[in-house]
Amino acid sequence: MSALEEVRVAQLGKKGVFTERLKTLGALPAEERKEAGQLLNIAKQEIADAIDARAKVLASVEMKARLEKEWVDVTLPPRPQATGTLHPITKVLEELNSIFAEQGFAVEEGPEIEDDFHNFTALNFPENHPARQMHDTFFLKNDTKTLLRTHTSPVQIRTLLAGKPPFRFIAPGKTFRCDSDMTHTPMFHQMEGLVIDKNIHMGHLKGCVEHFLRRFFEMDNVPVRFRPSYFPFTEPSAEVDIGCSREGGQLRIGHGADWLEILGCGMVHPKVLANAGVDPTEYQGFAFGMGIERTLQFRNEMNDMRDMVEGDVRFSQQFGMVV
Ligand code: DAH
Repeated sequence: MSALEEVRVAQLGKKGVFTERLKTLGALPAEERKEAGQLLNIAKQEIADAIDARAKVLASVEMKARLEKEWVDVTLPPRPQATGTLHPITKVLEELNSIFAEQGFAVEEGPEIEDDFHNFTALNFPENHPARQMHDTFFLKNDTKTLLRTHTSPVQIRTLLAGKPPFRFIAPGKTFRCDSDMTHTPMFHQMEGLVIDKNIHMGHLKGCVEHFLRRFFEMDNVPVRFRPSYFPFTEPSAEVDIGCSREGGQLRIGHGADWLEILGCGMVHPKVLANAGVDPTEYQGFAFGMGIERTLQFRNEMNDMRDMVEGDVRFSQQFGMVV
């Protein structure tokens, strides 16, 4: 195209061949001038037409080359973009926060590196009591007094010591035990709940826990059973089961003759109140604690809890972590 433009300028331009020729017309005898002028104009027109025709051909060649070079296969399916979402654990924690916020619970936190006093002693675990061994504690190097907290219950002690009754809070967070199999990961999450006030009794505990379980499992009539149990920091203590069925290896919450353990709870032991600076003759309270991964595993019917932290993208996709 640019070579053709050079030809056009050389032939038809202001300083081109035809302009020069037209200038010479004046030198011709008058009778020849007219005819020569006409011939020149015809020739000029023919050359202009030829250049235009060539320009059209070149333009279509150029367009064809461009279309081939910039070719896009619009029949290709769009490539899906992996999009990150919140981890199921994070989502459940947010859900728990909002369910308990409805009942006026604040959210408290405590350190993941704890000491023996807050994790055990203040919670009424006697020295050498078997309950301590059951916690599979990770101790920090050369030190049996500093440890990774084995439960969120030490947040009870820290929060009571730092404030004044009444109290009503949950304490979600990471917990650690030296244990790993299909239903245990060395790091997991718990949520603690604590209510301390005057005249608190087990009816309050029952109502609070039942309301929570109905909201959490989105079932108004989920069967709930309180079963006597033992924890050093509560008296009396109970474990709470919800009704389920396991027919054909398929877990279904809310129906059937079977039971699934969902949380531990009880009335706060007077010794724990005293250890945390609260007068047990004036105040009572109830507490509860649950494992988050465990609950999520039931809700989603997952086989191996460790998958939750393995980072396999197929798992993330299956449980809605990657869209
Ligand atoms: N801390 C207990 C555990 O990790 C769970 C628990 C049970 C917490 C009963 C409580 C409670 O507050 O009242 O096994």
